[in-house]
Amino acid sequence: MATTTIDVIPLAGSLGAEIRGIDLRRMSNQDWAQVHQAFLDHKVIAIRDQVLSPQDIMDVGARFGEPNHYPFVKGLDGFPFLFDIVKEESETRNFGGGWHSDTTYMQTPPLATLLYAIETPPRGGDTLYCDMVAAYEALSDGMKAMLAPLKGVNSAGLKHVGGRKAHHAAIGGMSITGTEEAETFEAVHPLVRTIAETGQKAIYCSRGHTTHIEGMTEEESRPLLDWLQAHATRQEFTCRVNWKPGTLTIWDNRRTMHSAINDYQGMRRHMRRLTSGPTHPV
Ligand code: SIN
Repeated sequence: MATTTIDVIPLAGSLGAEIRGIDLRRMSNQDWAQVHQAFLDHKVIAIRDQVLSPQDIMDVGARFGEPNHYPFVKGLDGFPFLFDIVKEESETRNFGGGWHSDTTYMQTPPLATLLYAIETPPRGGDTLYCDMVAAYEALSDGMKAMLAPLKGVNSAGLKHVGGRKAHHAAIGGMSITGTEEAETFEAVHPLVRTIAETGQKAIYCSRGHTTHIEGMTEEESRPLLDWLQAHATRQEFTCRVNWKPGTLTIWDNRRTMHSAINDYQGMRRHMRRLTSGPTHPV
């Protein structure tokens, strides 16, 4: 198979790139090496003009390792790790609004998330991303030293928005499941993690999932967690992906947070998601 030369077009100053000129169904290992290098370089890659079946998405995800299980949405028939994110015209709440990294409340959260656009609104419905490595590197030496030994306690409970059950109850277009048990999903991870392939350090906590710092109360932890989130989401650490049907965006879930923008009321949006590559944050 001939090697393709892919176009990698940066989306913003800190992170994110658009990729053109590749068909993920028909790529050689050398082609994938270029895509993977872009993923390592840019942390978020929006690969345009793909026509992907559920199996094709699973095959791309397998490049990062085993699939991760998402506990709160039923998977597609025959593809339990893949699920659809749908917001119907009649719905007002979206899934994935608010800054977070995916499933940090699991013991082995995913290295990568793959999100494939099936139907997008004519305007709006973009996803924002922020660069947790750039945010870490911009900290003072004193703050870096203070964070180094700290661990965050991550919960799926979404207590800050009234609990996951109530929060998801307003999302009608999706096959939501098991939200009663959300608070039993809890994991302790370092507040600053090191990325194996690059040696980079990244802030690893979010207002959405990190309830407190291990050994501190929620009240004691909140000012620092809030400050870290405000710092990490500064404009210069962000990019946004504007979706078109056929865009597959892959983000590094270890080095970014994301937030789905809910600015397309009365319009339908349909995406398909896979998380992949269980990792032990260290
Ligand atoms: C998510 O948080 O996985 C959803 C992101 C999106 O729909 O843009």
